[in-house]
Amino acid sequence: MENWQEVYASAKQRCHKCRCCPQCNGAACRGETPGPGGKGSGNAFVRNIDMLKQVFITMDTISENTEISTQTDFFGYEVSLPVYAAPISGIRLNYGADLDDLTYTQELVEGCLAAGSLAFSGDGMYDEMFCGPMDIIAKHQGYGIPTIKPWSESDMEWRIKLAKEGKALAIASDIDASGLTNLRNSVTPVGFKNVEELKKIKKMAEMPVILKGILSVKGARKALEAGVDGIIVSNHGGRVLDDCLSGIEVLEDIVKAVDGRMKIFVDGGFRSGNDVFKALALGADGVLIGRPISHAVIGDGANGVKLYLEKIQLELKEAMAMAGCKTIKDIQREHVCVKF
Ligand SMILES: Cc1cc2nc3c(=O)[nH]c(=O)nc-3n(C[C@H](O)[C@H](O)[C@H](O)COP(=O)(O)O)c2cc1C
Repeated sequence: MENWQEVYASAKQRCHKCRCCPQCNGAACRGETPGPGGKGSGNAFVRNIDMLKQVFITMDTISENTEISTQTDFFGYEVSLPVYAAPISGIRLNYGADLDDLTYTQELVEGCLAAGSLAFSGDGMYDEMFCGPMDIIAKHQGYGIPTIKPWSESDMEWRIKLAKEGKALAIASDIDASGLTNLRNSVTPVGFKNVEELKKIKKMAEMPVILKGILSVKGARKALEAGVDGIIVSNHGGRVLDDCLSGIEVLEDIVKAVDGRMKIFVDGGFRSGNDVFKALALGADGVLIGRPISHAVIGDGANGVKLYLEKIQLELKEAMAMAGCKTIKDIQREHVCVKF
């Protein structure tokens, strides 16, 4: 396939649960978990989209015609753009696509690397749901970020060991998965982690650790206390708590509180390069995109992911050009106006 429109049309044909709506905004799939939707009323997913629409980009059109660069780095690893694939698991169950999680991860990792980006991989209630994706990252010289659910200490430990052996660039843990009902009741249940337990995880890892699912200044301060290297400001795509805030709303306060002491990523409802620009202007170091990248993999595998990320990069460059920014570092708070 040659463009994103073709890829998305193909995804629509192949998804039998997700509707692949013209705008992936959580409205049609409210409460569809399992499925692609947000939990309960689906308000949290819908809010992610709505709040991003309340951030506006300011223009500065008197500038030179110099080349615009979206290049930056992820813990020292050079990336073409600060946009990463969010961890997604259960492709068959959630999208109704005939694609197993292993093939999904293989295509995802390859597509991200081809676009100069990186993928976070998922985890699930069966061991192979972590081991398979981790193996794929290892086969790509560790260029990816395995995401570990908040299991018991021993269950997290062996996963961290595999990540170390596979030379992963970093590990993430979606600590908010403690809100996923099916996993709380599974054979090896997930649970909450306190600061002391998180300190142990950081110590075990001996590599950058990123906590996914922070949604308050209080939570960010605890992450700092635990000594981790980064957080993902996220409501898990609206799938762990109905009626909660969106990442973009709390981002700026968290950025101020953290004051450069760890990396801050954000996700939830990002659908364009303009959206990415908004997060960077509010102080994020990078953005994760979930559902649309799943559509890209389902639609045309690695090629779909590459085409999608290139589209996002082009849009980001356009926003940067119109705001008078030549590099990612040039994107500052003054470049957006927040109306919430
Ligand atoms: C079907 C589905 C499965 C997901 N599985 C995981 C997972 O295994 N681990 C995780 O940390 N987050 C998971 N997430 C959350 C995403 O990583 C991400 O936070 C969210 O989808 C971002 O919002 P967006 O999809 O609107 O871009 C999942 C999300 C969806 C929609």
